[in-house]
Amino acid sequence: MSFLEMLDVLNDQLTMEGKEPVAFDHDCREGICGMCGAVVDGVAHGPERQTTLCQLHMRHFNNGQTICIEPFRATAFPLIKDLIVDRSGFDRIIQAGGFVSVNAGSAQDANNLPVAQQNAEQSMDAAACIGCGACVAACPNAAAMLFVSAKISQLALLPQGQPERKRRAQAMVTAMDNEGFGNCGNERECENVCPKGISIRNIARLNREYLRASLAADE
Ligand code: FES
Repeated sequence: MSFLEMLDVLNDQLTMEGKEPVAFDHDCREGICGMCGAVVDGVAHGPERQTTLCQLHMRHFNNGQTICIEPFRATAFPLIKDLIVDRSGFDRIIQAGGFVSVNAGSAQDANNLPVAQQNAEQSMDAAACIGCGACVAACPNAAAMLFVSAKISQLALLPQGQPERKRRAQAMVTAMDNEGFGNCGNERECENVCPKGISIRNIARLNREYLRASLAADE
């Protein structure tokens, strides 16, 4: 059974005993929505690399093993209940600029807009971020820079993301700071726990994007 199914069984038992079930976030249970997440034995999303909590299976634990489960901890992720934290700070960062607002018209033929293969692949890799918040929970500074850099990169690498590129970098970094997230200290803990394998190379790109935006007026 999966880790979340184990929690379901636990909650059924607790309910039968007239006790409060453990509150936890989940939705797709397929590793694509980013809703699930907890720190299992000190590691965000548990011991399996590049695996969300919902895709973690109990076969990775020993029979009768005691497992310590904690919520993602960060000042910018206030605790709501049990394993549920408020990750709406991520939503506000996206609202600050993580989108393209220009009217792109109807879909054009792909060959009209050539994209270098390397850029397309790096952009798709960055777009794999599901916004779960494990990077924040794992970082000693509670930095959200892996998340923000993935969202910045997926657009900055493509022609469609160029029109608001500078304003986007400035607005999203400002929103990140306002939410109380820390700064990257090159610990790489975020990269290690990211269920989608997002690289901290994106953080280097974020820093370049922000510097570039700070040195020039928006186009
Ligand atoms: S419940 Fe959707 S990623 Fe885990």
